[in-house]
Amino acid sequence: MMKTSSEMPGCARAVPLPEFLTQARKLVDSELDRLLPDESFSPKNIHAAIRWSVFAGGKRFRPALLLAVGETFGAARESLLATACALEMIHTYSLVHDDLPSMDNDDLRRGRPTCHVRFGEATAILAGDALLTLAFKTVAEDGKLSATKRALLISEIAGAAGTPEGMVAGQAYDLEAESRKVAAAELELIHRLKTGALITAAARCGAIIADGSTAALAAVTDYASQLGLLFQITDDLLDVTATAEAIGKTPGKDARSRKATYPALYGIEATHKHLAAAHASACAALDSIDEPTELLRSIADFILERES
Ligand code: IPE
Ligand code: IPE
Ligand code: MG
Ligand code: MG
Ligand code: MG
Repeated sequence: MMKTSSEMPGCARAVPLPEFLTQARKLVDSELDRLLPDESFSPKNIHAAIRWSVFAGGKRFRPALLLAVGETFGAARESLLATACALEMIHTYSLVHDDLPSMDNDDLRRGRPTCHVRFGEATAILAGDALLTLAFKTVAEDGKLSATKRALLISEIAGAAGTPEGMVAGQAYDLEAESRKVAAAELELIHRLKTGALITAAARCGAIIADGSTAALAAVTDYASQLGLLFQITDDLLDVTATAEAIGKTPGKDARSRKATYPALYGIEATHKHLAAAHASACAALDSIDEPTELLRSIADFILERES
């Protein structure tokens, strides 16, 4: 029988989404501050560059999703936090490298000059490398989890971040697609890999830490992979419709770079239909879950409606 969060007084799952996201952001930021090397440590330029990019005010969506899924299945917040931070480290590394001149060549990120603009290209590359490796160190050394679980999580995250089925593969396809017209299925695959894979891993890690059943893990995977697609379609749309102030990046970049995006392939109106379909599929995937899923549903609504 499906429980609602109102039947579980005092449960973190009953917290409305805006408060949940604020709490998650604060918690993750203070743990990241503890985990990342201090700027006063040598090599100072690398640590300053890491902190410049991490503490520039990202939404912390991937860690929040990990916490939300983990808590939905009953995990304690303390057991989820290190892995949540690891996901944010990998995400931030991906942004630093994504902005490099040889990739998307962007000079604004999270409302500030990009890492390579501020610190130089070599330092930005190394800061990204450091964040990626520190993420795995963080999970490997998380004393709150068993060694078996840590190995499972590391495998999960490495697959999602890398290639052939993760973010690196997606980024490679994204760059390669700049020079030609892509078909619908190809575009969806690019989005599912470059952005969806890490978002799916965040949700799955939450369920893995919570010892979710095989059926729960399958439902979470389905939910989050739709959410990941939704997230990148809204990113494409915001590049066309939002201001630099709202998104903290330079709008209009995708069209200028001839990126493969939903608005470019389908136009704005049909892009909204794809958004609605991904949102509906994400919500439908939650129907088979036996735990209260209001928080996860409101996360899907939040991504559908996001303005930054
Ligand atoms: C931007 O991600 C890059 C994508 C994968 C679409 P976010 O929109 O989560 O960026 P931050 O973390 O809030 O800066
Ligand atoms: C992001 O895609 C994919 C990443 C893995 C970082 P975009 O290139 O569209 O992300 P933004 O718009 O620069 O944040
Ligand atoms: Mg890119
Ligand atoms: Mg980019
Ligand atoms: Mg984009």
